[in-house]
Amino acid sequence: MAECATECVIELRNLWTVFGPQVVHRDISLCVQRGEILSLVGGSGSGKSTMLRQMLALERPTRGDVLVFGHSLISGDPAELRRLRNRWGVLFQEGALYSALSVFENVATPLRELKALDEGLIRDLVILKLEMVGIEAKHAEKMPSALSGGMIKRIGLARALALEPELLFLDEPTAGLDPDRSESFVTLIAEIRRELGLTVVMVTHDLDTLVSLSDRVAVLADQQIVAIGSVRQIAGAAHQFITNFFQGERGKRALEAIKDMGVGAPVAATPPTTQGH
Ligand SMILES: Nc1ncnc2c1ncn2[C@@H]1O[C@H](COP(=O)(O)OP(=O)(O)OP(=O)(O)O)[C@@H](O)[C@H]1O
Ligand SMILES: [Mg+2]
Repeated sequence: MAECATECVIELRNLWTVFGPQVVHRDISLCVQRGEILSLVGGSGSGKSTMLRQMLALERPTRGDVLVFGHSLISGDPAELRRLRNRWGVLFQEGALYSALSVFENVATPLRELKALDEGLIRDLVILKLEMVGIEAKHAEKMPSALSGGMIKRIGLARALALEPELLFLDEPTAGLDPDRSESFVTLIAEIRRELGLTVVMVTHDLDTLVSLSDRVAVLADQQIVAIGSVRQIAGAAHQFITNFFQGERGKRALEAIKDMGVGAPVAATPPTTQGH
């Protein structure tokens, strides 16, 4: 991982997002480095989901470029985009599973879409992915309505991993889970990321999730990235959003937990260099 630290798996170049009179992103540049877990945080309406959708080619910025694995999502051709889509997986916050499909069919869907695998291989792959997220094969024929929130998240993750992506997007992965389930899901994400060497972009409001998983955090506020760095680095940044974010009980605990490591200087909101050292 270290030797590729400056390779951008995702790069935003001078990105602007404007809806009518509202500027959401003002000239943002960002490099998501290979192998890292980068978290996007920011107040409601700061443009986190919009940015995630732009990275997934579901939405186009008003201006600027979005590159994934070095390919532009803006000016690249559609065939290239289809190939790129198979290199990432997404766990959406809402509708983590198709409610009309069984667990098995949910995880099988991306594999079937390839139109290249026979039924026996699909079966083996689905069972393997379910195993990877701690779901026994006996649950495969169940419908989502018969499952707990924690199981649904795990199966959503299995589906996101079906095509063995190099890049994983997580939108509020622990929202709606009780603290125990949230903690065990965080542990699972950390294990899988290590095992598969994934690059992860995550949007989260949850401090525990943020502190446990993030290598770096990008703080979206005032239409820009106002701070980017490790949790302890951004915790030291002087911005109202950050001060408020760490103010509650959980925030104070999180700061306590990282205090021993020493709070680093806040990292300026300039994008990390894309060049070598
Ligand atoms: N298609 C659209 N048309 C007009 N305005 C939009 C559109 N999509 C997003 N917005 C506006 O852009 C801003 C950013 O929205 P976005 O959903 O990205 O915020 P967010 O950071 O994800 O917020 P939250 O934490 O509440 O999910 C909001 O003010 C939203 O109303
Ligand atoms: Mg959002």
